[in-house]
Amino acid sequence: MIELKDVCKTYYIGDEIVYALDHASMEISEGEFVSIVGPSGSGKSTMMNIIGCLDTADEGEYILDGISIEDYSERELAKIRNKKIGFIFQNFNLLPKLTAEENVELPLIYQKIPHSERKTRVKQALERVELSHRMRHCPTELSGGQQQRVAIARALVTEPSLFLADEPTGNLDSRTGEEIMTLFHELHETGNTIVLITHDNHVADEAERKIFIRDGRVSEVTV
Ligand SMILES: Nc1ncnc2c1ncn2[C@@H]1O[C@H](COP(=O)(O)OP(=O)(O)O)[C@@H](O)[C@H]1O
Ligand SMILES: [Mg+2]
Repeated sequence: MIELKDVCKTYYIGDEIVYALDHASMEISEGEFVSIVGPSGSGKSTMMNIIGCLDTADEGEYILDGISIEDYSERELAKIRNKKIGFIFQNFNLLPKLTAEENVELPLIYQKIPHSERKTRVKQALERVELSHRMRHCPTELSGGQQQRVAIARALVTEPSLFLADEPTGNLDSRTGEEIMTLFHELHETGNTIVLITHDNHVADEAERKIFIRDGRVSEVTV
C-alpha cells in the first residue's frame, strides 16, 4: 500500500541544511497497524506529510497503491487526501467556533454529501467514539480526550482506509491516551490500516510493528 524508496527531504534554515529525511525507505501493507517511532526532530512529521500527500519528497520515490505519487494528478491527490486518508493530529485541529457535530460534518460538506445522509453519518461517527451526548458542545467545552475523539470521528466519517495519526496522545494524560489507543485498535480490527507516529516507545509498542527513525534515517524495522 505504502512504499518509500530512498526518500530525501531537506530544509534550509538560513545557511544551514537540515536533512529531515535522509534516504528513508520502508513499506507498509494494507491492514497493518504500524508505529513510526523516534525522538523529537527525527523526521516523523515530515514522513507523515509525505505519506499523507500533504508534501512531496525532494528525492526518492513514494509509491501509493502501486502507483508512483508523481503519476497522480493534483485532482487525484486531493481525492486521496479527502477520501482515502483520515488525519489525526496532536493538537486535534478542530475548528473552535464549530460544535463537535459541525466539525465532524465538515469533510462530508466538502464531499457534497446530501444533508440527510450527513446527519446520519455524523451521528454514527460520534456514537463510535462515544460522544453523542456532547455533540452540541464546542471544543473549548470538551476535555482533551473528548476533543481527540471528535477529531477521530471527523477522520472516520469519510470512511477512509488509512488512518495517519501524528502524536495523537501527545497532549493527553496516559489514561486518556489509552482510551484513544483503544479506538485505534478498534479501527484496525475493522480492517483499516493504521500509521501511528509517536516519540513514546510505550505508545509505539501497541502497534503490530515498529519502524524506527532517527536523524531522518529509518534505522531499524522490526517485524
Ligand atoms: N518547514 C520546515 N522548515 C524548516 N525545517 C523544518 C521544517 N519542518 C521540519 N523541519 C526540520 O526537519 C527536522 C525534522 O522535523 P519533523 O519531521 O517535524 O520531526 P519530528 O516530527 O520527528 O519531531 C527537524 O530538524 C525540523 O526542525
Ligand atoms: Mg512531529
